[in-house]
Amino acid sequence: MAEVEGSLEPAGACPLLPLVTDGLCFTGGDRRLILDGVSFRLDDGFRTVILGPNGAGKSVLLRLCHGLLRPTAGQITWGGLSPAAAASRQGMVFQRPVLLRRSVRANIEHVLAIKGVRAGERGARVRAALERAGLARLADRPARMLSGGEQQRLSIARAWVMEPEVLLLDEPSSSLDPAATRAVEDLVREVAAGGARVIMTTHDIGQARRLADDVLFLHRGHLLEHSPASSFFAGPAHPAAARFIQGDLID
Ligand SMILES: Nc1ncnc2c1ncn2[C@@H]1O[C@H](COP(=O)(O)OP(=O)(O)O)[C@@H](O)[C@H]1O
Ligand SMILES: [Mg+2]
Repeated sequence: MAEVEGSLEPAGACPLLPLVTDGLCFTGGDRRLILDGVSFRLDDGFRTVILGPNGAGKSVLLRLCHGLLRPTAGQITWGGLSPAAAASRQGMVFQRPVLLRRSVRANIEHVLAIKGVRAGERGARVRAALERAGLARLADRPARMLSGGEQQRLSIARAWVMEPEVLLLDEPSSSLDPAATRAVEDLVREVAAGGARVIMTTHDIGQARRLADDVLFLHRGHLLEHSPASSFFAGPAHPAAARFIQGDLID
């Protein structure tokens, strides 16, 4: 994050925060309520995990926060800004990576070029991103030939190279094996340690335990709980959350 001379912003604080949602509702095409009155506040911090079973509304919530969908009712603000105004300062990584039919390196260089980063500056940033993601030796491979885990790391590196203040990740390892999942999780940790505020979704309790500083538990479009990870996993306040972390199927 650029330091502005004379800025009152404390070092390391993320001006896009707090993220505040108030009474957020989203109705699908068939008028079914997909999110119902979701209100929470995320302050500066490290890693927030939106946890819940499939169909809970996690992806819809993340898309609303990034301004890709508009709420049917309720408000979202990022440090007072609308999601549309805040989006360019965020990175978003989708569940299924959408990569260009080009080399790994070109996929990263492309986002720098479209953001107007000078050609002379791009090479070093691309190299740093590839190193960070453990993809340096695959730089010249066609991106679409990478394994699922490598593709997901590439899409995280591509978002990270833009130096976003906030990185939103939607189920970053949902179809990966344990080793590939671990590599993605290590990268997410590094991104957060590097100063980006990470907000991610998962249905994987183990992943939430490994990565979350705080947990938003979403179930059937309702936010049932928002707790620090330590207290959430020690004993969630909501019975549905307790059943979910014991591995029970909840409906
Ligand atoms: N863009 C959309 N418009 C309308 N309905 C949607 C949209 N995206 C997802 N849905 C529906 O919203 C519900 C919650 O979906 P989703 O947010 O993808 O759940 P999760 O990510 O928790 O598995 C599902 O029933 C899904 O079909
Ligand atoms: Mg989802």
